[in-house]
Amino acid sequence: MVALIVAVAAAVSVYIFIYYNFLKGVKCKSDVSLNGRTVIVTGANTGIGKETALDMARRGARVVLACRSKDRAEAAVLDIRRVSDNNQVVFMHLDLASLKSVRAFAETFLKSEPQLHILINNAGVGLVGKTEDGFSMGVGVNHFGHFLLTNLLLERLKQCVPSRVVVLASETYRMVGLDFSKLSRTEPGHTNGFLDYAHSKLCNVLFARELSNRLEGTNVTCYSVHPGVVNTEVFRHLNRWLMLILVPVAALLFRDPEGGAQTSIHCAVQEGIERFSGRYFSDCRVREVVAHARDDAVARKLWEFSERMVGLSPRVSAVDLNPSSHRLLFSCPCSCLCPFQTSLMIIIISGVL
Ligand SMILES: NC(=O)c1ccc[n+]([C@@H]2O[C@H](COP(=O)([O-])OP(=O)(O)OC[C@H]3O[C@@H](n4cnc5c(N)ncnc54)[C@H](OP(=O)(O)O)[C@@H]3O)[C@@H](O)[C@H]2O)c1
Repeated sequence: MVALIVAVAAAVSVYIFIYYNFLKGVKCKSDVSLNGRTVIVTGANTGIGKETALDMARRGARVVLACRSKDRAEAAVLDIRRVSDNNQVVFMHLDLASLKSVRAFAETFLKSEPQLHILINNAGVGLVGKTEDGFSMGVGVNHFGHFLLTNLLLERLKQCVPSRVVVLASETYRMVGLDFSKLSRTEPGHTNGFLDYAHSKLCNVLFARELSNRLEGTNVTCYSVHPGVVNTEVFRHLNRWLMLILVPVAALLFRDPEGGAQTSIHCAVQEGIERFSGRYFSDCRVREVVAHARDDAVARKLWEFSERMVGLSPRVSAVDLNPSSHRLLFSCPCSCLCPFQTSLMIIIISGVL
């Protein structure tokens, strides 16, 4: 009996040691106040976005939760106001799966809010399906929706310098090469939710890079972020059997949402990181990205392509942009998050999400 108690105590101690030293991640050290600053966080009603918004509110910012579900967002507003003791937390409707909704959000925001200092493009999905405008869901929400949103708010950010844009990406960006034909709404996107998600995350990394190039000298800086592998609702669309495996694994081994928010917070507020504008961060540190995610020519091409796709400049067909860069670094025959992908995700927990 004594031996059993000692073994359990030893196992718990080892787990606590591993969790706090390797899994939880580092905390943003900045104590910068955001009094008088305005922050937008997209997808802030749950997960990493909600924790990020809470931190911004605790620092005294006026925080706009840009969310698609009124009920879920209003519940989050009440929670964040209560915990942060800051009443300057408001909800504005934004559905990133609709370019019309993105335009409506920007119009309402620009009319009602005189300032914008920090834009955090946090919302994300990994679902199969199409957006209202015919893009694949992951790329449409995670990239095109945020691309349009950022462009529509850019002048306001420039008027409020120093200001920042933070883009939630993911280590999955490594798994695919950029394929313009899969970004177009005239061609079928990835029929596989995981690959579509990875593709959108590569777009996020390239978008932050090109945005920073375009903003050079303006005092608006931007950063892409990998939050770690975080126990949030991002897996809510998996089937019941996969959830049975994933829930305990996630509870034990994934970061909590507060830990997952630290790198976003760091990139939003940490002083002295401006020289790293356009770069990719994880665990509150700048990281080198793989070669295909730091190609400035591809980043520029993606920007021009995206401008056309969201209607910021005349449309062009995907073929005109030469989709020759089609390259898949990972492939799965399934059309959704299947057991193979889930097992893969679990096995490569140490950073691939
Ligand atoms: N969790 C991880 O391990 C992990 C790893 C790497 C990167 N990330 C990235 O981190 C970000 C936050 O993810 P999370 O883990 O916190 O996920 P989450 O708990 O599922 O939260 C995602 C948020 O995005 C919102 N959203 C989804 N579709 C939207 C749309 N069409 N319009 C507006 N908002 C929409 C969701 O709103 P509803 O509640 O209404 O659905 C929710 O608020 C994502 O960009 C994700 O790709 C997460």
